[in-house]
Formats: sequence, structure tokens, C-alpha cells
Amino acid sequence: QRNFKVVVAGASGGIGQPLALLLKQNPLVTRLALYDIAPVTPGVAVDLSHMNTPAKVSGHKGPEELSAAIKDADVVVIPAGVPRKPGMTRDDLFNTNASIVRDLAVSIAQNAPKAILAIITNPVNSMVPIASEVLKKAGVYDPRRVLGVTTLDVVRAAAFIGEINGVDPRSVTIPVIGGHSGVTIIPLLSQSQPAVKLTDQAKIKALTERIQEAGTEVVKAKAGGGSATLSMAFAGARLADAVLRGLKGDSNVVECAYIKSDLTEAAYFANPVVLGKNGVEKNLGYGQLNEFEQQLLKAAIPELLKNIKTGEDFVKK
Ligand code: APR
Repeated sequence: QRNFKVVVAGASGGIGQPLALLLKQNPLVTRLALYDIAPVTPGVAVDLSHMNTPAKVSGHKGPEELSAAIKDADVVVIPAGVPRKPGMTRDDLFNTNASIVRDLAVSIAQNAPKAILAIITNPVNSMVPIASEVLKKAGVYDPRRVLGVTTLDVVRAAAFIGEINGVDPRSVTIPVIGGHSGVTIIPLLSQSQPAVKLTDQAKIKALTERIQEAGTEVVKAKAGGGSATLSMAFAGARLADAVLRGLKGDSNVVECAYIKSDLTEAAYFANPVVLGKNGVEKNLGYGQLNEFEQQLLKAAIPELLKNIKTGEDFVKK
């Protein structure tokens, strides 16, 4: 199959619009449905539809148009929600965003139970458990099909390493494991290819912390104007493309994603996975960690456990 319907839920926002722009340029996307509560949404769809690329674009605004947007989707990318302001952590967004993701998951269970979900809405560590619990309740849960988008952490790590090494950042591969918030973000610098040109452990630590706090770097620089949108859209489009290539039957499509996992105590965990016809076909694990990375993992687990429980409890209550 090479004909795919992709939905962007939250399509009119700071992430949603550039994400839709990138997806409109993806030859694997034949139908692109834009859903948002914002009244501008049909206009965003008309605007994109004037681009001479094959994807047919439709715009859907408000809850009464949600089912039509979601119907028969192959992939639903979700950036709907409120973004961070300075001084806020991703967890501060929980209450508002949890209800948004829950409601979207309910509609996906009804209208596109086989769709692959790529969740961008923060806090991702808790949103993936929320969507999973909703789909479970509806009896349509397949853990291979629910992904948290951590691609931006990989993209940032590669950008920073490219700069340090003086090489094209597109040539850098680096696994980033764990979750998508602060200390749960674990860049495995020891596995970077090419090797990171830093010998000093203090510099390795500083680079690790820069990757963990890169989102906050953007929030501060935007001075009240929101969080990362353009780089997030780039990362979301990259993951969506990988998911589509997997669905189409390409072999060896590997990306990091935050998924249901039994690798660690945390029931959801990000690391490299193989994407295929059913979403996540294979969990590649995270290989050998050095001592520093083991410490990072140790610090991440309690935080992840807490974030996961917060998500699961939200659906249970
Ligand atoms: N259904 C669909 N769309 C919604 C809903 C909803 N229930 N509620 C809000 N939205 C839409 C808004 O109308 C807006 O167009 O989500 C979009 C969010 O856009 P922005 O406010 O610009 O936020 P953005 O920077 O895109 O971030 C969105 O992604 O990375 C995360 O932390 C970020 O959780 C935040 C989300």
C-alpha cells in the first residue's frame, strides 16, 4: 500500500501548521486531514491545497467535525494542546492537555482503531499512557501503534554533535532513550556515530544537560511566545515519514520512539525501534551504557514511573 491518510490533530497551532506544510510535501501522504478547534482550520487547509503536491487536504474544525477528520486514518499525529510559557515545565501542562488527548483517543478508537498514533502533546511521558489506557478501555489497544514523539531530542543531539565535530549534522546518528522531559531524556553520547569529539567528562555532562534542557532554551529565547514549534514540526514530520515508510513495507526503518516497553521498570520507555507494517515491529533496546549513562538512567526511572502513573490515574478516575 502506498496510499495513506494522515491526520494532524491540532493542525492550526505553532507546531501543527509547519507540520502540515511538511506532510503536504511528503509523497507517501495521499490524504491530509487537518483537525483543530480553531476557526482558521478550514482556511489553513485551503491554503495548503493550493500547493501542487499530490496530497488532498481537508480541513475540519470543532468537535462536531472530529469523526470525519479521523475516519479511516492510517496515521494520526497529535500536537493539540497548550504549550509552555517561561518558568513552566512540561508537567505543568498536564491538566489541560490530558483531556484533549483523551478525547482525541476516544475518537480514534471509534473512527480509526487501526491508526498509528504519534503523540507530540506534552507531557509526552504521560500522554502516551493516557491514549493507551483509553484505547485499552475501548478494546482496540495495540501497543505497537501508540508512539510518543521523542524525535526532537534525537534531532537536537545530532545538531549539537554536528556543530561540535564540525560535520554535516544529517550524518550524525545518536540514540536518545528514556522519556521526553528533563532528566528522563538520556542521550547515549557513547553510541554516537561518528564519535563525539569531546574527551573531557565535564564537557560530556554539559552536552548531556544541554540536550535535556534544549526545549527550555527555546522557551526562554521565545520570551513568553511559546515553546519549540518549527524544529518540533520537523521532528514530527520525520517520525511520520518513518512510520509511513514502515507501513509501506520498507525494511530497516529505525527511529527512537517512546513506546510500551518491558526493558526497564518503566512501562513506557523510548529507544530505537524498527517500524513496519504494524507500527513498532521490533524493540532494539539500548545496548551498552557507560557508567555515566547508567547514572542518567537511574535518575530517569523514578521520574518516568511518576509521569506514567499520573497519566494512567487520569484515565482511571
Ligand atoms: N482539539 C484539537 N486541537 C486543539 C484542542 C482540541 N481539543 N485544543 C487546542 N487545540 C489546538 C489549538 O487550537 C492550537 O491550534 O492545538 C493547537 C496548539 O497550538 P499552539 O497553542 O500554538 O501550541 P504548540 O506550540 O503547537 O504546542 C502544542 O505540543 O510540544 C507540545 O508542549 C507542546 O503540548 C504542546 C503542544
